[in-house]
Amino acid sequence: MLNKLTYILVLVIIVTMGCGDSSSDGRELTRHPGYEYMPNMYRSPSYETYSANPLFNDNSTARLPVKGTIPRGYVPFEYENTLDDYIKSGEELINPLENNLKNIEEGEALYVMFCAHCHGKNGDGNGSIQHPLYGAVPSYTDDLLVRRSGTTMKGLSDGHMYHAITYGFNAMGPHASQINSDERWKIIMYVNELQKENN
Ligand code: HEC
Repeated sequence: MLNKLTYILVLVIIVTMGCGDSSSDGRELTRHPGYEYMPNMYRSPSYETYSANPLFNDNSTARLPVKGTIPRGYVPFEYENTLDDYIKSGEELINPLENNLKNIEEGEALYVMFCAHCHGKNGDGNGSIQHPLYGAVPSYTDDLLVRRSGTTMKGLSDGHMYHAITYGFNAMGPHASQINSDERWKIIMYVNELQKENN
């Protein structure tokens, strides 16, 4: 009985206190925050990511990088993803790295990570991926004259391969974001070794 009464009393107090918008003298009580000594601590002037904000003169959203800026470690590739530029890179590019055992071994490690599941450990085109789309992975040493370079797989130059790794080709995706420039050249060095072995 007492318990019930206490409940009701508390409820009445909460309801009457909580709902009042103003006190007897008409001053807003519940909506008045009281004195704020450091308002910025209560109301931090933050803006949602990409929302318009008054911090920049043009009232724009996110800032664009300064024109001509390139990400750290990124080496620009001046050839575009076109057949013309593929042919050109095939003629003009040469591997800038020294052909030594260390580079070839690093190329092998990268090849196993990024290429072998499609192209096969020894480059014969029989990787572990079983999918009709990838049934046509060419062997690095096939001598069919069907390449867009106008050559066989054996006849691809280092520059052709660099372009193909960078932009991909048909069912082969681009690898520019996964493999940096030096790594691409090391892989090519290793592919050259595979081509020698299988010849
Ligand atoms: C998802 C499977 C896949 C992966 C991963 C892959 N390739 Fe390929 N690659 C292919 C297929 C399929 C083709 C044939 C494309 C065509 O002729 O239509 C090809 C073609 C090529 C060619 C010939 C391109 C040309 O210009 O004719 C080269 C060179 C090559 N790959 C190298 C590599 C190297 C090096 C890697 C690793 C960095 C790699 N590929 C990763 C599937 C793959």
